[in-house]
Amino acid sequence: PYSAISTENLLASRDGVARAAAILADGGLVAMPTETVYGLAADARNDHAVARIFDAKGRPRFNPLIVHVADVEVAKRYVEWSDVADRVAQAFWPGALTLVLPLRADSGLSPLVTADLSTLAVRVPAHPLAQDLLRHFDGPVAAPSANPSGKISPTTAAHVTAGLSGRIEGILDGGSCPVGVESTILGLAGTPTLLRPGGIPQEALEQCLGHPLEVYKNGDALTAPGQMTSHYAPGASVRLNAEGVVEGEVMLGFGAMDCTLNLSPAGDLVEAAANLFGHLHALDAMGPEGIAVAPIPETGLGRAINDRLRRAAAPR
Ligand code: TXA
Ligand code: MG
Repeated sequence: PYSAISTENLLASRDGVARAAAILADGGLVAMPTETVYGLAADARNDHAVARIFDAKGRPRFNPLIVHVADVEVAKRYVEWSDVADRVAQAFWPGALTLVLPLRADSGLSPLVTADLSTLAVRVPAHPLAQDLLRHFDGPVAAPSANPSGKISPTTAAHVTAGLSGRIEGILDGGSCPVGVESTILGLAGTPTLLRPGGIPQEALEQCLGHPLEVYKNGDALTAPGQMTSHYAPGASVRLNAEGVVEGEVMLGFGAMDCTLNLSPAGDLVEAAANLFGHLHALDAMGPEGIAVAPIPETGLGRAINDRLRRAAAPR
């Protein structure tokens, strides 16, 4: 139950960024492009603004948010920093990596951001418009993916409009998100643990840390409360590891093959990640009974792609 508000389309310009920053300062909601997916941004210190994120997305309040900051120095105001954090931040920030660290008692963040956990997820995005907005606003920005909860994540401003228009004050249009899958989440509050596969491959993190990572599996515990099994769900049912289509299906391909849309005809996983959500949105818009998906290798960005596809295919 919300009253529709008019959503401004903000262009990728100094004025657009300034307007987006003003909306945030005013307690409003703005979709911002990042290199992974569009985020639904709000001032992370403002309870009312953060509460509106949950309402706009229909997101359960127990699912905590990632706080976005301009650089490592700002991150240190909100989390207890560590040597391991420093090592991975030096290697991968700004970029598609989120770190979960102990929340500082003096963080000043709204408790809604962390869903009252004692840890905080924090990330320094690389996208130039996200960087501009964070510097202009000069404060911590809470931002989940800018899609209705449980639906396909947005990688264009048009995806955001389709899902959230009338519920948020503005959309800063940065074109397509280059990485195309959400950030990798690394838990560093205890033993380093991969909480969500994403835009930085597990292999790259392990090489940086010099040891294999523990990998969180759904159902282990409440370490990644947002890792609900059914997520990224299109309207159509999704069938994985398909060799071809059956009646009523469209096909999402990978590598040289006959299909409706191809993630990467060349079999390139980076290209496939960049196309994943856009192709799912497009196939879903065709209104098929089902989407058949070709097998994707479980390596590099393939882990993040398969994770999202498994959730899209999970029973609802
Ligand atoms: O690439 C991304 O990470 C995008 C862009 C906008 O930055 N954001 C994003 O946010 O994917 P969201 O809310 O869709 O996913 C954040 C995930 C959720 O699964 C949430 O449960 C988890 O991060 N998370 C947040 N805080 C956490 C914490 N303290 N401990 C464990 N998991 C946490
Ligand atoms: Mg999300």
